[in-house]
Amino acid sequence: MHFRTRAIHVGNERDPQTGAVVPPIHLATTYVQPGAGDWGEYDYSRSGNPTRKAFERTLASLEGGVGALAFASGMAATHCATMLLNAGDHLVAGADIYGGTYRLLHKIVNRAGVEVSLADSSNPEKLKAAMRPNTRMLWIESPGNPLMSITDIAACAEIARRRGVLLAVDSTFATPVLTRPLELGADIVMHSVTKYLAGHSDALGGALVVRDQKLLDQLYFVQNATGGVLGPFEAFLASRGLKTLELRIREQCRTAQRLAEFLLNDPRVSRVLYPGLKNHPGHDIAARQMDGAFGAMLTFEVAGDFAKAKRVAEATRLFQLAVSLGAVESLIEQPASMSHASYDPAARAAHGITDALIRLSVGLEAHEDLRDDLNQALDA
Ligand SMILES: Cc1ncc(COP(=O)(O)O)c(C=O)c1O
Repeated sequence: MHFRTRAIHVGNERDPQTGAVVPPIHLATTYVQPGAGDWGEYDYSRSGNPTRKAFERTLASLEGGVGALAFASGMAATHCATMLLNAGDHLVAGADIYGGTYRLLHKIVNRAGVEVSLADSSNPEKLKAAMRPNTRMLWIESPGNPLMSITDIAACAEIARRRGVLLAVDSTFATPVLTRPLELGADIVMHSVTKYLAGHSDALGGALVVRDQKLLDQLYFVQNATGGVLGPFEAFLASRGLKTLELRIREQCRTAQRLAEFLLNDPRVSRVLYPGLKNHPGHDIAARQMDGAFGAMLTFEVAGDFAKAKRVAEATRLFQLAVSLGAVESLIEQPASMSHASYDPAARAAHGITDALIRLSVGLEAHEDLRDDLNQALDA
């Protein structure tokens, strides 16, 4: 079956008891056992829940994995993956990663004795150079956040494979519509389900998908032991979101491409970072790695300073001033004061996250309305 068909049918089989075409939301936290010490398919909702399982099955199919695990948030999913590491292990992460991942790695994961380094993953040689004898995991994002850097996932997978290291990819921006990292050799795909997968700014969630059953079992053990699971209401909303994922992504990407081209020639804008533009350094890799479109996130730098960027971000009417991304409504934010405020200012500057940057999450509104909104805001 094609992607779009699987998004609708896998995991969403009709309810055998009632014939309902939408599976019910299972709220029970505990399940009657066939006998003492005799476990049925489900026993307790932290360990397994049919509504969560339905979402996991759909997502695993879309990513081409053996299975998926759904979490209460993207950060819970990321944390679970890092808990595969032991004290004394080393992790190398790409430099262009979500601010919350940076904070988790540098303020929580390091306290468990795991060493963390950052490297520019858009150049896999730099990632390789940052590896040490005790490196056990590479963590990358593509497109990166907020600079839209493109990392060659297949090249990183080859490096990871040669060194016997796990490659984890935060694929939140790309979604399985555009990139399927497991097919490119990655071991773990992570999603903030909160974003495109659920897609409507009304459900928080996260997920890990893997292609190896043993790895799935290890991650499941950590998830069950630590407990950050996705609740059934959110699992239902996430499953509903997946059904329209491909249509939303394709349309949002079309609008993002148009807005990037509009901003590119505007003298009020000094830089546009969008992989769909030919001048983007990662354009060729993105054209190979992303399926026919370049994502619906785009970053630009206003010709001006922090105050100018702040004024522009505050002046839009349709683009809502808010963190997060990936939903039907368009959002605007200033990374230096919002999504990446948890970086040390020096680290932010070192990674090129300047004060004049603005990040857009392009939604499903008419592209003309979004263009007009940006146009008036740039005069602020
Ligand atoms: C790329 C990326 N990864 C991970 C996360 C964390 O996900 P959550 O907010 O669902 O915990 C986010 C959230 O903004 C994100 O943008």
